[in-house]
Amino acid sequence: IFDALALQPADPLLSVIGAFRADPRPNKIDVGVGVFRTETGETPVFRAMKTAERRLLETQDTKAYLGPEGDIGFFQALRPVVFGAADPGERVFGLQTPGGTGALRLAAELIAQARPGARVFLGTPTWPNHPPILKKTGLEQVAYRHFDAETQAVCFDDVVAALESAGAGDVALLQVCCHNPTGADFTVEQWHEIARILGRRGVLPLLDLAYQGLAEGLDADAAGVRIVLDQVPAALIAYSCDKNFGLYRERTGALFGIAASGERARIAHSNVLALARAAWSMPPDHGAAAARIILVSPELSADWRAELAEMRDRIVSMRELLGTIDPAFAPLARQHGMFSTLPLSPEQVRRLREEFAVYMPNSGRINIAGLTRGNVEAFVRAVKSVL
Ligand code: LMR
Repeated sequence: IFDALALQPADPLLSVIGAFRADPRPNKIDVGVGVFRTETGETPVFRAMKTAERRLLETQDTKAYLGPEGDIGFFQALRPVVFGAADPGERVFGLQTPGGTGALRLAAELIAQARPGARVFLGTPTWPNHPPILKKTGLEQVAYRHFDAETQAVCFDDVVAALESAGAGDVALLQVCCHNPTGADFTVEQWHEIARILGRRGVLPLLDLAYQGLAEGLDADAAGVRIVLDQVPAALIAYSCDKNFGLYRERTGALFGIAASGERARIAHSNVLALARAAWSMPPDHGAAAARIILVSPELSADWRAELAEMRDRIVSMRELLGTIDPAFAPLARQHGMFSTLPLSPEQVRRLREEFAVYMPNSGRINIAGLTRGNVEAFVRAVKSVL
């Protein structure tokens, strides 16, 4: 049976991990895959997470199944972090998912089930896994320009034109903060305009919230969610705890849905449960259980928020330092989160890898958290020599 299969290319982003590891050069620089790193190059487990995991180990007395919704306490404890004072109450439905990817896939399946002809509008460039996830569910994709690499800014006129061309029942996939791969986020004013268009045209927002807390702060980073929810009757939010809880390999996320009424939410909820059951039956428990322990403990929550602020400060200071070393990098200080996309060709990316041991995907995306005070000048010199 497998004779019929064609060889698939390795994932271009994940293959950077292996290529970097195999390089013996001591001064190699990894600005590839999106994991946070400290000034000394580590991706540590959060202090609060270590304590929560210890508590979990001591108190968990069974590994029996929870059900397709996963850890309900985790889902509920995350609600105030996402919605703040704007929680839509009984109109909210959803469940714990295996990472933000699981949430996105389930969201796309729910949309395809509810409205098979829906088109999904997505700005480019985007996270390279967005299009394949949507493709699996057969939804039509409409791409528009989100970002101009030369000016390093959002092409807001293109965003508005695309959303104005969407019809009732179409979907807009929007990244809420720390845009992957460009770092170019919408301003609060732009979110208000987007929200008005979505509301007026009856477009369903599918909001990808994968980096809450890494741009300006937990509340500020959720502004897009809260502004949009003020204008639309229904929405979906794909949430990832990979970065802001440092849970990467534990695959911890959630799908939040908001329906027009409590009754509609109840029906939509039964649909996501059935879809999850058929996809993965139940999500992995550990990461969500430990995140719940943090979220319900005022003391652990405070420490988690403090460590998140330290991470955010480090990213901001590296962005500022890049601009200080070379003014050509100054626009990166206006961007948010771990990623920026430099105007580099695949050939220039190859030269950076081969001649300077600087690793990034062919798209020219860099992970700012891969830079340190010790390597940033060498990084800038390397980029300047291939440009
Ligand atoms: C990234 O974009 O580097 C991360 O989100 C990892 C991934 O799964 O692609």
